[in-house]
Parts: sequence; C-alpha cells; structure tokens
Amino acid sequence: MNIILLGPPGAGKGTQASRLVESRGMVQLSTGDMLRAAVKAQTPVGLKAKAVMEAGQLVSDDIVSGIIGEALDGLGAETGVIFDGYPRTEAQAHSLDSILADRGRTLDHVVELEVDEDALVERITGRFTCATCGEGYHDVFKQPKVEGQCDKCQGHEFKRRPDDNEETVRTRMAEYRAKTSPILPIYEVRGIVSRVDGMADMDDVSVAIAAILDQGQD
Ligand code: AP5
Repeated sequence: MNIILLGPPGAGKGTQASRLVESRGMVQLSTGDMLRAAVKAQTPVGLKAKAVMEAGQLVSDDIVSGIIGEALDGLGAETGVIFDGYPRTEAQAHSLDSILADRGRTLDHVVELEVDEDALVERITGRFTCATCGEGYHDVFKQPKVEGQCDKCQGHEFKRRPDDNEETVRTRMAEYRAKTSPILPIYEVRGIVSRVDGMADMDDVSVAIAAILDQGQD
C-alpha cells in the first residue's frame, strides 16, 4: 500500500506516519527528514537546500523528486510506503505518478489532515525532538515522562528545528496554501482522497486513518 499524508506544517503528518511505521511496518519517506539529513551531512543537496528551508520556502522539485526516487529504489516491491511532505507542488505530483509507475506501484490513498492554522503555530513552535533517537515531544502536548530524559532512549539532549519559529512557520503555511493545496483535485478525480480532523486527539486521528486504510481490505 502506498499513501500520501497531506496537510500544512504541524498538521501531524510526521506524528501519524511514525505511528503507521510502528503499527503496520510501512516505511515513512519524509522529504523534510531526508533534506535535514542532507543539510547535516553537508552533501551537495544539503548545501543547496539549507537556506531555502530556513526561509520556509520550497526546495526545487527536481531535488525532492530525485531523492524520493532514490529512496524507493532501496525498498522491496512489497514494502508499503507513506509519503510524508511529498508531493508539495503540481510538478511533484506528476513526478510521483511517473516514479510510482516506473516501479510498478500505485497510489492507494491520499489522507488530508484538516487543521486550524492558528493552532498550528503553537504546535510547531512548542515541539522538540530527542537529539539521539528523534522521538518527538511538545512543550504542552507531550512532555517526556521524566523531565529532561527521552522516554524512548533515555537520552538527555533535545533539539528544535531552525525553521520552527513563528515567522518561518507563517511562510511555510503560505507556501502550503499557494502550492500544495491546489494538488488535491488531481487526486480527488481519482476518488482516493479522504479527510481526517487533524485537530482531534492524536490517538483519535490514528484511529480515523486506520479506518481509511482498512477500507476494502476485508
Ligand atoms: P517538513 O519537514 O515536511 O515540514 P512541514 O511540512 O512543515 O511539516 P512539519 O514536519 O512541520 O509538521 P508535521 O505535519 O509533520 O507535524 P508533526 O507530526 O511534527 O518540511 C520542512 C521544509 O523542508 C519545508 O519547509 C521545505 O523547505 C522543505 N521540503 C520538505 N519537503 C519538500 C518538498 N516535497 N518539496 C519542497 N521542499 C520540501 O506535529 C507537529 C507538533 O504537533 C508535534 O509536536 C506533535 O507532537 C504535535 N501534534 C501532532 N498531532 C497532534 C494532535 N492531533 N494534537 C496535538 N498535538 C499534535
């Protein structure tokens, strides 16, 4: 099964993708995570992407479609994939069609997380992750059980993303409205779009997504 999780910054795409990885053994392909890894490793892609990401703008279509194609080549044909943060433009949506077709894959679901943008600023500016294992936390919604210690790996170092400040978040949201929302009709005409209330409790969001993925599986 191949699915796209779509939604503005902070909608919960990464959170729900991680849960699907754990519950269903799917693989999460997050272009944001892959680009951040490239920035950290100072690869040619990372050097090009760094300033664009810090400004909250979109990295070029060719770069992101290239890394998605490469990532898929490393996976077995039967492995289910969650596209998290890709595609984000019409050009990327068309590239994804070709990338999937070339590899004998089809797109089964596009799940749009519907959210209130004002609440997202609080979600994003409050989030942080474990520097060791990447487990996600939030100042208000999900603090470590023991203060200053990661629940998952017991690490003591945490980090925040450089693009998680309010000004950049607003730019990222504007990019989403201008370039990403308009791709939904491409999938609507195929009848594969489902919408989930992304403002609901995280567990309820997971249940709603599971119900969509299980449709027609009996
Ligand atoms: P990317 O990393 O994809 O960031 P994003 O789309 O802005 O999304 P986020 O990761 O910020 O949010 P999310 O929806 O995953 O929310 P999360 O689960 O963390 O992209 C970053 C940059 O990379 C882009 O700006 C661009 O420059 C570049 N880029 C990436 N892909 C690209 C592409 N395809 N083309 C071009 N450029 C690209 O949740 C947020 C917080 O809320 C967390 O703290 C979480 O705990 C909390 N939370 C989640 N769900 C709930 C809930 N239901 N209730 C309460 N809290 C919740």
